[in-house]
Amino acid sequence: MTPSVEREHRRSGGGRGGGARGRRNIALLILAIETSCDETAAAVVEDGHLVLSNVIASQHDLHAEYAGVVPELASRAHSERVLPVVRKAISEAGINLHRVDAIAVGNRPGLIGSLLVGVAAAKALAWSLAKPLIGVDHVHAHLYSGLLGAGPGGRHEANFPALGLVVSGGHTALYHVDSPIDVRRLGSTIDDAVGEAFDKAATILGLPYPGGPNLDRLTQTPGADDRAFDFPVSRIAPDSLDFSFSGLKTSLLYAVRGVPQRGGHFLKDHTWLSESSRADLAASFQRAAVGAVILKLQRAVQGGRYRSILAGGGVTANSLLRRRLDEVAKQHSLALFLPPLDLCVDNAAMIAGVAYHLLSAGRVSDLSLQAMPTTSC
Ligand code: KG4
Ligand code: ZN
Repeated sequence: MTPSVEREHRRSGGGRGGGARGRRNIALLILAIETSCDETAAAVVEDGHLVLSNVIASQHDLHAEYAGVVPELASRAHSERVLPVVRKAISEAGINLHRVDAIAVGNRPGLIGSLLVGVAAAKALAWSLAKPLIGVDHVHAHLYSGLLGAGPGGRHEANFPALGLVVSGGHTALYHVDSPIDVRRLGSTIDDAVGEAFDKAATILGLPYPGGPNLDRLTQTPGADDRAFDFPVSRIAPDSLDFSFSGLKTSLLYAVRGVPQRGGHFLKDHTWLSESSRADLAASFQRAAVGAVILKLQRAVQGGRYRSILAGGGVTANSLLRRRLDEVAKQHSLALFLPPLDLCVDNAAMIAGVAYHLLSAGRVSDLSLQAMPTTSC
């Protein structure tokens, strides 16, 4: 890639957004920043789909000894890392900072101290470069991550309406998606998010942080029996598209530690588990957790006329969920947009992707943009 050279945009037809920006045939580059939780990320994305760079500085080591994200540590680490990460994203994209057309930032939902770092950095860049600023909802952006990258026609084009599924550490929800920026929630978790349930299950089993990927790995132990324990799959009501994972988590807790005694004490901890019973428990938990997600997805597919499935969020890295999503899509002849593993977890490329469509629609923010703890979708 040639630094600071505006590359020809060779897609036929001029492309979406050409009129809005009044610069047909020139690629539109968005620099995005993401700091909502424990990853400091920056990316440069061309025309909403081609990822020129995707830099993620994970803080897992920092939070491991606390078995969870410590907000104060997270925001301090973001402050230290955000500019080096942005510099790396610009350099890996092979461009000059002045070449970017807009600055995007995940401004909600998340840890407020963490979000503030990204929002302040994005505002400073947008103001000093005199470029548009675009605030993007992080949960919404997870839905877009499977649309990044180049498909056979040079880009991934979802057929709408699509059924959206976000399964992350903080959110679990289904969406009716009419376009990349037109999203309506159909149902969501009434207690824990599925990623949170995976993380808590991993702690119950004595697995190190981050729990979800470690639990997934344990289920792949040769001989692990996913039917050894019959954990509950929540249905809530016959037509509900909401999720619940707290009963499943409690069932696992009791299976490992026994029923609590008077005063809430347990008679045992996880140290009595053999390696094979730990693997059986992990596999049985995973079957139930993934089963609960797939159950509601199937309900939603049957209740609407969808043409594709857009799935995103950290738990889409789960090996069993990926297989089951593929099966559902094939069974209903739906196109499945599932992110590659590096785009399942928090990243800034997905923020840039949504920002491209917001910019094309004229939906830009200004310097009054706020960091918000809750999602807008
Ligand atoms: O999307 P994400 O990076 O952050 C949030 O927006 O929350 O998701 C992180 C969540 C964590 O709960 C993590 O344990 C879970 O995704 N996760 C997994 C796997 N990889 C990440 N859960 C199950 N299996 C995995 N392979
Ligand atoms: Zn996320």
